[in-house]
Amino acid sequence: MPSESLAFDRAADFYDETRGFPPGQEPHIAALLCRVGGLTPISRVIEIGIGTGRVALPLGEHIGAVMGVDLARPMMRRLLAKQTDQPVYIAEADAAWLPFPAGVFDAAVAVHVFHVIAGWQTALREVARVLCPGGVLISANNDRGEQHPIDRLMSDAFKQAVGDAEPPNVGIPHDRYDTFLEDEGWTPAGEAQSHPLGAEIHSPARYLELLEQRSWSSLWRVPDDALARGIAAVRAALAEHQIDPNQSYGVERAFIARAYLPPAS
Ligand SMILES: C[S@@+](CC[C@H](N)C(=O)[O-])C[C@H]1O[C@@H](n2cnc3c(N)ncnc32)[C@H](O)[C@@H]1O
Repeated sequence: MPSESLAFDRAADFYDETRGFPPGQEPHIAALLCRVGGLTPISRVIEIGIGTGRVALPLGEHIGAVMGVDLARPMMRRLLAKQTDQPVYIAEADAAWLPFPAGVFDAAVAVHVFHVIAGWQTALREVARVLCPGGVLISANNDRGEQHPIDRLMSDAFKQAVGDAEPPNVGIPHDRYDTFLEDEGWTPAGEAQSHPLGAEIHSPARYLELLEQRSWSSLWRVPDDALARGIAAVRAALAEHQIDPNQSYGVERAFIARAYLPPAS
């Protein structure tokens, strides 16, 4: 059955360059996920939307096995190219139809994914189905905290110029990111925990470049003329505020994870 989800085939060539962790952070990310999810060296974990293995490969160093599903073969090819001896396995499958029997995984991991899964509620039921009793879903994401004023100026100018030409997410809407799991009956198992990733260097010139390259998946379905209008509006806002496009500034980031128990069935 064709999926309306956003497969990341087109992002494979630039995904790690634009979304990767700063060098040396991978062991800390894996340790955070193990702590939050109570994972041990024998845990079997499924990752929904495994992508290039940004999360699964470091995690695989510390647990029994990671089984990942994704719709995008080019993303998973990147994973295979980086893989050494980590016990990470992949399947081309839709998160909304997981090709596994019930109750076979100790935990599930989902990072930056439910907003691109069209059948995200079905996918959540599938995750609950394949978890063994007591198993948790570890939901994690990169957090940028408060937006830098220049980033805010640019994104506001872009959004205002593009308007409705930027279609809504195919999966969970932006304003439900923090609440969708509890809304669907999942219960937090412990507090959210975070690991600081240090400052990411931003500049207006880089932001414009990422817009032009349609780096973010939210831009993939924006028509050419609307994208051009948005980019022109960003340039105009920078000029109006006399901001040098080549100036750079640091934006502190963290990786945040929290575990959830599925709804009682
Ligand atoms: C933003 S990327 C995140 C990748 C990885 N979790 C990470 O954090 O680096 C989202 C991934 O989900 C995949 N994806 C989208 N819809 C999917 C679906 N319905 N089932 C499985 N994977 C899906 C995309 O192809 C892409 O690789």
